[in-house]
Amino acid sequence: MPPRIILEPNAKVRVYRDSEEVALKAARRFARLADQYVVGCGRFTVALSGGSTPRAMNSLLAAPPFLDTVPWSSIYFFWGDERCVPPDHPDSNYRMARETLLERAPIPAQNVHRIHAEEPDAGRAAGEYEETIAAAFRLAPDGLPRFDLILLGLGPEGHTASLFPGSPALHDGEHLVAAPWVEKLGAHRITLTPRALNAAARVVFLVAGEEKAPALREVLAGDASPDLYPARIVRPTDGELLWLLDAEAANLLPA
Ligand code: 6PG
Repeated sequence: MPPRIILEPNAKVRVYRDSEEVALKAARRFARLADQYVVGCGRFTVALSGGSTPRAMNSLLAAPPFLDTVPWSSIYFFWGDERCVPPDHPDSNYRMARETLLERAPIPAQNVHRIHAEEPDAGRAAGEYEETIAAAFRLAPDGLPRFDLILLGLGPEGHTASLFPGSPALHDGEHLVAAPWVEKLGAHRITLTPRALNAAARVVFLVAGEEKAPALREVLAGDASPDLYPARIVRPTDGELLWLLDAEAANLLPA
C-alpha cells in the first residue's frame, strides 16, 4: 500500500508509482462508485475533467474488464469545464472524452450532457449548461447539484477546471456555471463554479508529472489564497476530497 499522507484536514492523498498506476486506480474507483450508486439509487452522475491526464483512465474504462462490467446505461456524463470551441475541435474536452470513452462504451446519447461551447456567446452557453444541470438534478431555485463524482485536474500554475488565478469566477456565489475571460489564453472558458464543485459528494483530482509538483505543494501544503492557487478553493462542503498523484507530482510534498 502506498503511504497515506494527510495534508489538508479534509483531503485524502494517495501517491502511486507513475501516471499509469494513477489511471488504473482512478478507473477502478470510477467502476466501484458506479456500481455502488447504480445499485443504490439507480444512476451515477459524473463530471469529467478536461486536459490530457484523464485520457489514460478513460481508455482503461473503455476496454475490458471495465467495458464489460460498468453499468454504462445508468451513468450520466457532464463536464467540469470546456473550451469555447466546437465539439470536434482538437482542444475540445468533449472530443477528448468522446474519442477515449464515450464512443467506445455503450453509453446512451441522452446520458451525455456536453457543454455547447461552440455558442459564440459564452455567457449564453454557460446559462444553457446551468439549465441542463438544474433539469438533470431537478433543482429548486438556488438548489445545488450533488454530483456523485467530479473529476478534476491541476494546471502547472494551480488552476483547476477553468478556474484560473485571479478569475472572478472564484468568487461567484450565485451561479453553478460561469464563463470567465482567461487573459493568458485570450479566450473565454466555461466552468463549474466553486459553488457547484463543492456541492459534490466526491471530488477526485488526478495529477501526474513533475511539472505539477510546485503547484501541488502550494495547493496541498501551502496557505496561499485560492486567488493564487485556485485548486485550493475545492473543499466539498459535505463530501470527500481525494487526490490521486504519481510520485513525480508528489515529489515536493512534505514527507
Ligand atoms: C482543461 C482542464 C484543466 C486541466 C488541467 C490539467 O480544460 O484544461 O479542465 O483544468 O484539468 O489544466 O491538464 P492536463 O491533464 O493536460 O495536465
